[in-house]
Amino acid sequence: MVDSILVADDESNLRKVLGALLRRRGYQVVTAADGAEALEILAEENFSAVITDLRMPNVDGMALLRHVTEHQPDLPVIIITAHGTVDTAVEALKAGAFDFVTKPFDQAELTKVVEKAVATFRLNRHETHPHAVDAATGRFGLIGTSPVMQRVFDIVDKVACTPSTVLITGESGTGKELIAKALHEHSPRVDKPFIKVNCAAIPATLIESELFGYEKGAFTGAVTSKPGRFELADGGTLFLDEIGEVSTEMQVKLLRAIQESEFERVGGVNTRRVDVRLVTATNRDLAAEMAAGAFRDDLYYRLNVVPIKLPPLRERAGDIPLLVTHMLEKYNARLARRVERVDDAAMQVLLRYGWPGNIRELENVIERTLLFCEGTFVGEADLPPELSCEVPGGGATRVPVPPVGVTGLKDAVKLTTQRLEREMIERALSDTGGNVTRAARRLEISRKSLQTKMKELGLRDE
Ligand SMILES: Nc1ncnc2c1ncn2[C@@H]1O[C@H](COP(=O)(O)OP(=O)(O)OP(=O)(O)O)[C@@H](O)[C@H]1O
Ligand SMILES: [Mg+2]
Repeated sequence: MVDSILVADDESNLRKVLGALLRRRGYQVVTAADGAEALEILAEENFSAVITDLRMPNVDGMALLRHVTEHQPDLPVIIITAHGTVDTAVEALKAGAFDFVTKPFDQAELTKVVEKAVATFRLNRHETHPHAVDAATGRFGLIGTSPVMQRVFDIVDKVACTPSTVLITGESGTGKELIAKALHEHSPRVDKPFIKVNCAAIPATLIESELFGYEKGAFTGAVTSKPGRFELADGGTLFLDEIGEVSTEMQVKLLRAIQESEFERVGGVNTRRVDVRLVTATNRDLAAEMAAGAFRDDLYYRLNVVPIKLPPLRERAGDIPLLVTHMLEKYNARLARRVERVDDAAMQVLLRYGWPGNIRELENVIERTLLFCEGTFVGEADLPPELSCEVPGGGATRVPVPPVGVTGLKDAVKLTTQRLEREMIERALSDTGGNVTRAARRLEISRKSLQTKMKELGLRDE
């Protein structure tokens, strides 16, 4: 699918130049001459990113930005700003803009920012803003009455109002980002920015300037000074997602920033101090990575002050009916359907399935099912057939192809790999009567990596 970019600027020349540049890079471009026109177009078409000028007649760039952050929080907005108005651009970043570029802009810089925005959009496409979850349904707007989730909520309750660093772990799609946002929204910092950085989406070479900012002239293309995410989050919360992806070199710099609360911008000499509450998340087993020497132990202990471990959905299947009800409501409204319930047989299938993609996968399944469901209830035949292929106990009997357009390629590969790993490991364990050493030999991996994998996949070491 070609990514579409909306460009809003009142200067027709700039629209032409930007349009030509982006089209050359393979994007589809739609232009708007002011904010009001941009809003109309946004209501009708889907985009992967918005580029907007700040000063425009009718609806200005800030208002456009506010509209997008409220209605399409995953859609990245890039601000174009004239030299000398960087302060306003920084305000825009705090209000949720993805990034800004200064006029006259450097083509390479602009292209890089757009690529980064589109990559982030793709990563986030299936994540919903916490406000989309009906606050009445559960604590912190999160759903879950299972004892394990209640324990998670208790921890959030206790630590939200403290400045302590929190490390959230859990498989993909278990709600790590929702918890990070809940921590911010229930803290005294709620009126200050919540800044998210997806460490996996930023190339290793750019992460330092992204986090700590840079001074004018620090490298080619640094035509102006720019604050990093640490500075933007001052007074608020900085959420470093996928922290396990950070290089060892960057881990050293992060450690200092956390330990001393100070850092320098790239190419800068002034030491800057900020007050940020740090929340990090990963779906990797950082303790195992630390043991293997891939993650610094001093940083690990700094990050792991308050650990929050999110259980995989298969370990709290009791929450499935509640989640399904919530998702039926959400997608009935969104897709104009009137599906009232999931019948007993279909619910049995949902309860038996292993959900390697956790709540995100459940949500995708409900959305897809509603798309094709004509009646007022979901029966077993309405569900994707691969859900029923699974034998009780969670072992898939074949690897299904995830639906294109619902699951991104990266997620699909991750899910499929996890599924495959789970199936092979379960087979090896059952063939060897649960003997981990022998199962590891059959799988041609070390006993230790098998144990790590089993932990990741929630398989018990009997
Ligand atoms: N307890 C919950 N109640 C309602 N919805 C939830 C809950 N947990 C997760 N979700 C939904 O599931 C999806 C995945 O959640 P989230 O993005 O927070 O997961 P994640 O752990 O950060 O995943 P990843 O590791 O892939 O980034 C989102 O659409 C979110 O709204
Ligand atoms: Mg996440």
